[in-house]
Amino acid sequence: MAVQIAPSILSADFARLADEVTAVSNADWIHVDVMDNHFVPNLTLGLPVVESLLKVTPLPLDCHLMIEDPDRWAPGYAEAGAGSVTIHAEAASAPIRTLRAIRSAGARAGLALNPGTAVESYADLLPEIDMMLVMTVEPGFGGQSFLDMVLPKVRRARDLIKGRDLDVWLQVDGGVSAETIERCAEAGADVFVAGSAVYSAEDPAEAVRSLRERASGAYAS
Ligand code: DX5
Ligand code: ZN
Repeated sequence: MAVQIAPSILSADFARLADEVTAVSNADWIHVDVMDNHFVPNLTLGLPVVESLLKVTPLPLDCHLMIEDPDRWAPGYAEAGAGSVTIHAEAASAPIRTLRAIRSAGARAGLALNPGTAVESYADLLPEIDMMLVMTVEPGFGGQSFLDMVLPKVRRARDLIKGRDLDVWLQVDGGVSAETIERCAEAGADVFVAGSAVYSAEDPAEAVRSLRERASGAYAS
């Protein structure tokens, strides 16, 4: 498995977003947390900011939609040029239709599960997705503590993907840091979102490099 690192700009300085994304040019993705103050108790940014970011970074955008009614809004992010669009299983009322609309607009389709949502309920959707996001905190805020209790679910998600012989990426998001990334990799994750671990670091690019090294090391051992 190839390690991919996706710094979350939720922990970046929103007044200097263009510089903040340039500071992590060694990353694989820029993770963009869209929150609507309804699905989660926080409000961040939406499509206009995504459109502006697309103009200033060569890296693909990984849009994580923590919003109600993703069926209505998600295809627009894919049409705008996001590389990946992830909707929450808990919020979607027609996930298959929406995931197909994301793919047909040319983006990778992702399905996110909150810590308390069982992965087994979504096993049948695996052929419809390019990435599963297993949340390792309750969504809504950066800087929260990693929930170790979710790791068995990461393992079960990897087993389900393997069992079906699918090329679905497995992303973890929330509390991923130098202390926790190896545990996530050992459990089978291959795409790692890190907000505070990257943007609170003195040198964000060095933080990306070192997270990548730790995760790769965990595969090798
Ligand atoms: C939380 C967001 C995360 C957040 C992660 O709801 O989905 O992407 O930015 O932040 P850290 O890495 O600080 O936990
Ligand atoms: Zn996120």
